[in-house]
Amino acid sequence: MTETARQRDDRPVLTNRQGHPIHDNQNQRTVGARGPATLENYHFLEKISHFDRERIPERVVHARGVTAFGYFEAYGSWGDEPIAQYTRAKLFQERGKRTDVAVRFSTVIGGRDSSEAARDPRGFAVKFYTEEGNWDLVGNNLGVFFIRDAIKFPDVIHSLKPDPVTFEQRPERIFDFMSQTPESMHMLVNLFSPRGIPADYRHMQGFGVNTYKWENSDGRTMLVKYHWMPKQGVRSMTEEDAANVQADSLGHATKDLYEAVERGEYPEWELLVQMMEDHEHPELDFDPLDDTKTWPEQEFPPKPVGRMVLNRMPDDFFTQNEQIAFGTGVLVDGLDFSDDKMLVGRTFSYSDTQRYRVGPNYLQLPVNRAKAPVHTNQNGGPMAYEVDPRGENRHVNYEPSTLGGLREAEGPGYGEQGPELRGRLTRSRIPRTNDYLQAGQRYLLMDDWERDDLVANFTNQLKQCPRHIQERMVWHFLLVENDLGVRVGEGLGISPQDVADLEPLPNQQLTDEDRERLANLG
Ligand code: HEM
Repeated sequence: MTETARQRDDRPVLTNRQGHPIHDNQNQRTVGARGPATLENYHFLEKISHFDRERIPERVVHARGVTAFGYFEAYGSWGDEPIAQYTRAKLFQERGKRTDVAVRFSTVIGGRDSSEAARDPRGFAVKFYTEEGNWDLVGNNLGVFFIRDAIKFPDVIHSLKPDPVTFEQRPERIFDFMSQTPESMHMLVNLFSPRGIPADYRHMQGFGVNTYKWENSDGRTMLVKYHWMPKQGVRSMTEEDAANVQADSLGHATKDLYEAVERGEYPEWELLVQMMEDHEHPELDFDPLDDTKTWPEQEFPPKPVGRMVLNRMPDDFFTQNEQIAFGTGVLVDGLDFSDDKMLVGRTFSYSDTQRYRVGPNYLQLPVNRAKAPVHTNQNGGPMAYEVDPRGENRHVNYEPSTLGGLREAEGPGYGEQGPELRGRLTRSRIPRTNDYLQAGQRYLLMDDWERDDLVANFTNQLKQCPRHIQERMVWHFLLVENDLGVRVGEGLGISPQDVADLEPLPNQQLTDEDRERLANLG
């Protein structure tokens, strides 16, 4: 027997999902060699109908992405200060303690096969399979977001997605929306700078963006923001770099990650945490629950709490990348939400879309299942299979019970902590919006070449927009930083005097400094 033939003999036999061996995978069953097919063609019908259902809906945002696996290793303390002073979450307590993680990097706007060199925020979602159950930290690479209230999310995404008639992404639609949304300026200044096209997934930062809480075993809460810093450094692309990359491949970043891990070059990030006392901080010129803001590092220094190493790629893309499901509601004891109005909306949205996209039993799938023991009284639903042992008496799928079944956890548990809130029901924006200051500070911190790139990108996009949108965007940019407004305006033939008479947007809140800038435009 030749070597090839022997290998062939050793291979497992093809079966259908009922375990029946398949003797002919090349020909349907027909009446005569040329004849019509018969309806009881079980193997053929199963094969085709499963194929017909191979796709699930792609994610409504972040459709293109890649998952990698590895571990998080805790530092346990900052110098002499044990982390336990701030959070009782077990994964952070002991130096060297490792927790398995799955990370999914993604682009936001394009579909499942779109370009990974697009100017687009990047998703940076981490699932920690902790001993106390799963914790998901679902962030991005830019540190801030376009909007601060979840009710605007479908609108901001529709403006960025392709036109509903022509299916073309159009600057006119994007800047139409953004020009009416002053809180987007900080995000736009980041997104249209070189940071808006990361070189690949290994060379980008990650941020939790929204404000969360930590809680220690005395019930003391702190507001926190999370940051991932790549040990590989941060690298970005200009429009020209990106055009070259995507002329060659639409999936360069996924390829880069698979290849790096295969070479044993495991990418690594350090996790840092910024903290502030859990209250409104009237002394700050921004609201700590506003996700369009960063927290100044001098006042709130990021402290390292651990590192993450990615050392394994999926062995099946569909079950480990398409079906993985992250959500901001997935927290463990010692970590909590804040009242950030985006975070609350996100927390509803993720599991809602996953019940639709993957199915109501998405948490039974291996990639989503907690590694901590799971015992629930949830029953049935499409594609349910028994992963939750209910205990000795399998008749009891309710609680409380005197006949067996599951019981509540013992011990005091932890009451609801944090400041007591009072207020009337209302629909109002937060009092301290300060939409321009940090965007301007970010602009001033850029290197010259980054500023040049930003101005060129804004100008090129806005050239494709109607005049009134150009004018409003120049007006905003002048409020962000005079130099930015003047330079983009020059590219569009719009001077500060041309926009000096524009009224602020309806309900727009301006600071004294904004008003002073406006007064000087004429
Ligand atoms: C994915 C909603 C804001 C980061 C998603 C998905 C939805 C969604 C529906 C698809 C999830 C899935 O199909 O599994 C929202 C809503 C937001 C919001 C309603 C605002 C109210 C944000 C912000 C960030 C972010 C501010 C960054 C901090 C992500 C990431 C993913 C994602 C990383 C991809 C997760 C994955 O890889 O599976 N979001 N999002 N989202 N979102 Fe958001």
